[in-house]
Amino acid sequence: MKKISVLLIIITSGVLVWSQGTIPMLGEKAPSFEANTTNGKLAFPEDFGESWKILVSHPKDFTPVCTSELLALATMQDEFDELGVELAVISIDDVATHEDWKRHLEDILLETTGPINIDFPLIADQNGRISNMYGMLHAWEDPTRDVRGVFILNPENQIRSINFYPLNIGRNMEEIKRVVVALQTSEREEALMPANWKEGDDMLMKYVPYTSEDLANNPGLEDQYYKVGFNMWFKKSN
Ligand code: BEZ
Repeated sequence: MKKISVLLIIITSGVLVWSQGTIPMLGEKAPSFEANTTNGKLAFPEDFGESWKILVSHPKDFTPVCTSELLALATMQDEFDELGVELAVISIDDVATHEDWKRHLEDILLETTGPINIDFPLIADQNGRISNMYGMLHAWEDPTRDVRGVFILNPENQIRSINFYPLNIGRNMEEIKRVVVALQTSEREEALMPANWKEGDDMLMKYVPYTSEDLANNPGLEDQYYKVGFNMWFKKSN
């Protein structure tokens, strides 16, 4: 009897692991997929070209936390647009349900914020195929619904950031935007971002920024950088 129970546990765990898929890694090319969406057929991430991309999963249309999250995202579309970011939202709902929910969200926006169209696609993933590819199904949280996942992709479609939040906690969309700005700034400035960094804050240097010879030739360098402790060289933001 004990042997049978152990066998059942092993088999069940195997099935659960299989059905959850695996989470793609940071730095990896994002898995490609084709799907139906509220904006028609989408080949992700290819259809978004050389933009940055954010793939956002949520557990279920029409649920309260998800509704609050999509409203927050909708009001920030222009800000993501300015950053060159394309958004895509996914759940295990069909296109018809997504379309109903989208209309409902736009009605709320009209009442509360003014007219806002939701331009980003809501991806239908009824059989969980795509959610599985991205490791968005966490069986111990809920085997039938996506957790709240956030994948940020760079223009080369490499995964640059991954976050998962539980079903009962809505995400901070400002934090998602902060991470995009930090990633873009880090690449552009070849810098590192310290704890709690936000746009306009000083950045950390990857290397000691100048030698004593550089300083002798360009005394102004001393005004652009400063050191904290023995290992943190900061570059002043302009
Ligand atoms: C929500 O979005 O409100 C929600 C979704 C799944 C489980 C619990 C809450």
